[in-house]
Amino acid sequence: MSELEKKSFNVREIREEFPALRQQIYGKNLIYFDNGATSQKPQMVLNAINLFYSKENANIHRGVHYMSQKATTEYEAARQRIQHYIGARKSEEIIFTKGTTDSINLVAFSFGQLLSSGDEILISAMEHHSNIVPWQMLCERQGCILKVAPINQRGELIMEEFERLLSPKTKLVSITHISNTLGTVNPVKEIIQKAHAVGAKVLIDGAQSIQHMHINVKELDCDFYVFSSHKVFGPTGIGVLYGKEDLLDRMPPYQGGGDMISRVTFERTTYNELPFKFEAGTPHIAGGICLGKAFEFLESIDMEAAERHERELANYAEGMLDTFEGLQIIGEAKNKTSVVSFSVKGIHPFDIGTLLDKQGIAVRTGHHCTQPLMDFYGIPGTVRASFAFYNTKEEIDTFVQAVERSLSMLR
Ligand code: ALA
Repeated sequence: MSELEKKSFNVREIREEFPALRQQIYGKNLIYFDNGATSQKPQMVLNAINLFYSKENANIHRGVHYMSQKATTEYEAARQRIQHYIGARKSEEIIFTKGTTDSINLVAFSFGQLLSSGDEILISAMEHHSNIVPWQMLCERQGCILKVAPINQRGELIMEEFERLLSPKTKLVSITHISNTLGTVNPVKEIIQKAHAVGAKVLIDGAQSIQHMHINVKELDCDFYVFSSHKVFGPTGIGVLYGKEDLLDRMPPYQGGGDMISRVTFERTTYNELPFKFEAGTPHIAGGICLGKAFEFLESIDMEAAERHERELANYAEGMLDTFEGLQIIGEAKNKTSVVSFSVKGIHPFDIGTLLDKQGIAVRTGHHCTQPLMDFYGIPGTVRASFAFYNTKEEIDTFVQAVERSLSMLR
């Protein structure tokens, strides 16, 4: 049962839950527009972190004592909460990892062991480095071939090209749900159906989607869905790999150590059942429990209204920024959300970001771990404002004025 009942969507009330938003930076009210990098934490997550380390700290799956059993129960309850939230069939399909990057590396290593030379992995041209490099490493290890589906100038996947690259040789499609740099929302349901039609499995990088929209892995029918806790209002250092049970069962362990074993002798080791087979060593116990709290918080949010609100924020910001001389919006997909990236002719993004910071506004500047995407647009980087449901139109007004002021200082 949730501590919070689901309420009608009210930004003012939601903001009350986030103490980090009530501070001043350089004497200005903080405007936090770097949610693509990490999100702020609601009070109930902060309380849970404090409570765990003040009173409940114990190792899990190991102790007969009260505290260990309580921590184990809470950690496994968090797993179940996440299972229900994303619509997974079983809690065994929820593997705790260090984050999105770790989840993708786990799949690249372990699912990769099932692949052979000449098998193909298909990604898109808008991927984060964490959904490029693990596949390149797999290709080097095992002679697989990495294919990249191109995008158009608006930053949309070219579906005909994607389909042309799909073949019975494609063993895995690994694609971002929402681009961290462009805000493009990929048509993942269609992608999954098309990939399945040629027998390929599909990994959805949900690092930028689960905090913005309702996710149901059963409806999507993806084979893997991965995300990071810290982007979904939970602590850093923990994340999730969802995988279909039959697939995870066939995959060999990623790392060896305690908890992932069934029986160890010097001659031979047998492995634990799911999900523990993939969770070697003492995990991030507080992280898991507090990620459960973050999902409890999310359960109280009307995500459809939140998604509408975030789309409105992005459209509102873009409409005003687009009128500035020399400013180019990077990423103009028809279906986009929560991210506004731009570059300005003759001005380095870093300089704009630095001046915005002095006005109390946090944005990210640079290549956003998408260097091939920057090469595609022929720019060194962008200024990126990325929104969460706790951001407001008033903040955007202040941000747009601050961009205008910064540009006039830099010209
Ligand atoms: N991947 C994160 C971002 O887009 C860090 O900022």
